[in-house]
Amino acid sequence: MLVCHCRAVNDRQIEAAALCGATSVRDIVTACGAGGVCGGCRPVIEEILEGTPVALPASHAAVA
Ligand code: FES
Repeated sequence: MLVCHCRAVNDRQIEAAALCGATSVRDIVTACGAGGVCGGCRPVIEEILEGTPVALPASHAAVA
């Protein structure tokens, strides 16, 4: 689903940025540009961030 029309960024790209550590709209703007032009997509970005699992540091990764 296209989230940011200004930068042509979809929800998967935002989720990927969140899984890599982005925790705020500002982080998403830095990571992929979404939300950095008109700002109309920022509420949707915030919803995606709220629904994305928090990335764990490598030191917390499960050991098989
Ligand atoms: S729609 Fe995302 S910045 Fe305009």
